[in-house]
Amino acid sequence: MEARVWIKLVLAVAVIFMSGCKKKEAAVTKPEAKPVVKETRQMSAEKESFGKTPDGKQIDLYTLTNTNGLKARIMNYGAILVSLEVPDRDGNLADITLGFDKLDGYLGEHPYFGAIVGRYANRIGKAVFNLDGVEYKLAANNDVNHLHGGIKGFDKVVWRLEDLSVKGAGAVVKLSYISEDGEEGYPGNLACSVIYTLTEDDKLEISYDAETDKKTVINLTNHSYFNLAGQGTGDILGHEMMINADKYTVVDEGLIPTGENRNVKDTPMDFTAPMTIGSRIGQVEGGYDHNYVLNSSGGTLALAAKVHEPTSGRVMEIHTTQPGVQFYTGNFLDGSVIGKAGKVYQKNYGFCLETQHFPDSPNKPDFPSVVLHPGQKYSTVTAYKFSSK
Ligand code: BGC
Repeated sequence: MEARVWIKLVLAVAVIFMSGCKKKEAAVTKPEAKPVVKETRQMSAEKESFGKTPDGKQIDLYTLTNTNGLKARIMNYGAILVSLEVPDRDGNLADITLGFDKLDGYLGEHPYFGAIVGRYANRIGKAVFNLDGVEYKLAANNDVNHLHGGIKGFDKVVWRLEDLSVKGAGAVVKLSYISEDGEEGYPGNLACSVIYTLTEDDKLEISYDAETDKKTVINLTNHSYFNLAGQGTGDILGHEMMINADKYTVVDEGLIPTGENRNVKDTPMDFTAPMTIGSRIGQVEGGYDHNYVLNSSGGTLALAAKVHEPTSGRVMEIHTTQPGVQFYTGNFLDGSVIGKAGKVYQKNYGFCLETQHFPDSPNKPDFPSVVLHPGQKYSTVTAYKFSSK
């Protein structure tokens, strides 16, 4: 009997204890019993203020995001790509472009970080060209030569917002600029637009369109400096680079093409098979700063380059309709520029792949033509596709 009493007692205590626990549990869980909201990212295109130019013009920052979390920030000053966040092989996002946190940095001296470059990207020899027997003199802003559109190129003007929206294809920002007849010495009023589209399949596409009312020359590109390990984390010499080009345009000491397109085979210029940037850079005087003649020869969207950064696993693949690409390894970065998050940009801390027509084409009749006629449409596309391995 005594044992039964004991069992009953133990059971009773257990029941009281458990119900007490349940009560406590109920009291704790009740306020949290809301429907569970699963974190879903949405494709978006948003605008915020980024400051003002010294002459009081409003500068805005446009943020394009896709559902995988990739994020591109663009501003209307210079139509500059301010940052580009892409995931590594573990899904960690990093900003892979060099630049500044604030507008002030971009208003000061810098080597075209993220900018849209025009009216003529790259160099024009002796800063002069002829069209129909008329000589057009441009600013000699790179020794005796003309570089990247002159003193106040498209990278230093305020563009107009035309569209900021999410469309089927992705998140879009469209900017336009009218370059007046005679601006920086170029003939013709040129109406240009640049569209940045961040797509759901992790592509940042930049398309360029222009029309003129007088015969002129045009060569537009984007001058982003990339480091796929993350901006400011070190040099880019360990990146594996493939450039889909069997030839490059040989240049003189002022980096003006001589007119010869030389085969890359058996030279340090050969990136037809993936090679680390640093493996042969020491054999190239000054580092890489050369225009490659793409095998596709332009016109259709074709593979120009593929870059892999082994520590993060990030991969960038570039397709373009342009016939050339300037491969530049940030040779003139020297630690004098303090960039995003206080990072000091040393030599080779970023590389550029500027899809373009060849340098000095206005003076090289054998190069693909850069002449734009009234009634004709200039239209090019370059797409940067991101993945990891
Ligand atoms: C040129 C380099 C130049 C750099 C910054 C590149 O496109 O090829 O020679 O130093 O831009 O201006």
